[in-house]
Amino acid sequence: MTKALEGIRIIDFTHVQAGPACTQLLAWFGADVIKVERPGAGDVTRSQLRDIPGVDALYFTMLNSNKRSITLDTKTPEGKQVLEQLIRGSDVMVENFGPGALDRMGFSWDRIRELNPRMIWASVKGFSDGHHYEDLKVYENVAQCAGGAASTTGFWDGPPTVSAAALGDSNTGMHLAIGILAALRYRDKTGRGQKVAVSMQDSVLNLCRVKLRDQQRLDRVGYLEEYPQYPHGTFSDVVPRGGNAGGGGQPGWVLKCKGWETDPNAYIYFTIQGHAWAPICKAIGKPEWETDPAYMTAEARQDKIFDIFATIEDWLKDKTKFEAVDILRKFDIPCSPVLSMKEIANDPSLRKSGTVVEVEHKARGKYLTVGSPIKFSEMSVEVTGSPLLGEHTDEILKDIGYTPEKIAELHAAKAV
Ligand code: COA
Repeated sequence: MTKALEGIRIIDFTHVQAGPACTQLLAWFGADVIKVERPGAGDVTRSQLRDIPGVDALYFTMLNSNKRSITLDTKTPEGKQVLEQLIRGSDVMVENFGPGALDRMGFSWDRIRELNPRMIWASVKGFSDGHHYEDLKVYENVAQCAGGAASTTGFWDGPPTVSAAALGDSNTGMHLAIGILAALRYRDKTGRGQKVAVSMQDSVLNLCRVKLRDQQRLDRVGYLEEYPQYPHGTFSDVVPRGGNAGGGGQPGWVLKCKGWETDPNAYIYFTIQGHAWAPICKAIGKPEWETDPAYMTAEARQDKIFDIFATIEDWLKDKTKFEAVDILRKFDIPCSPVLSMKEIANDPSLRKSGTVVEVEHKARGKYLTVGSPIKFSEMSVEVTGSPLLGEHTDEILKDIGYTPEKIAELHAAKAV
């Protein structure tokens, strides 16, 4: 089957999560992704949080499937020559090193486009070029704090809170992948490569745009009616943390179900969609609320929304989260069980769709990973195991024109 990115060669000069998540996605879509790693060590995630001694950690295997790995010391003259050769023969180079690292290595953007004017150079940094923090090294939670996620996540009486979702890392990688695809299309039209830069702060903020919406509403009217602070609490001049409140115009909350006392995830998310009030009243056994003026409109419900949630919790107390959703779905009420990672790992629908896949790894055996969340009607995405460190070094060197003798010299010089 033809893959969309077949014939596109990508130098994957990335590490940790933001860059690898981007290149893994492009590898799924058919690009030949060559992961360039330091001899002996490789990507730091190979050895971080290991669950099996001496075997690549899941942190690495789950972000580097479908790639080839070459080891290359790009600080040696021989290693630099190999990288130059790779740059001449590739379409895209992706990197997410600390600020200035590639310049120090001798591979500035000017040098890269001198070697290959069609090259698309894609780069992740914590902050954008010219930002007053542009020199900072950044990890996930730093980006969540800088991008507005932490100040708006959590409960109002607790500290700023980071999300478990990788808003700074994988999310930035997804933004970069979109940028690369646009740059490839641009190159198809013009023949010219270009630099694609994405910052982690900007990518987090892009997902927090509704909070910037709220800041402007707060500045204008002094309150935010969908937040738990309204109408009984007080607002300051900054967007507060709203706990589990629905972020749009539909009130919602996480509600306890049967077993919550012992099961930390015995909850559902319940949404009160304005036009679905009648079915909600029927579903929870409160038909009289449907026509009661004190409850009939969203506005009338606002000052007692937590009493309404308490009534729904009372209705939920003899139902498991799955039983509750099975009832509520019949009434077309937007809701979901709060799923644990264990439940997600074993979810038959996620397995069937290929979103949770079991993959074979040469040293580890089978492991679970998250497959492509993007489904195509004409293409399938087959997830393969991640490469061992330097597994394809000789094969890649041969691909780019090195003879067996030259390859032996590179090994002897410890450049690969
Ligand atoms: N051969 C030789 N040297 C190599 C190499 C190779 N194959 N690959 C990397 N290196 C060197 C780099 O040249 C650099 O050396 P230098 O600092 O002496 O110039 C060094 O390894 C890597 O530096 P750096 O990226 O700064 O690593 P770090 O571990 O100190 O910092 C991060 C890690 C993630 C904080 C930093 O890379 C960063 O801020 N990246 C941008 C934002 C980002 O992507 N964050 C992580 C999201 S998951």
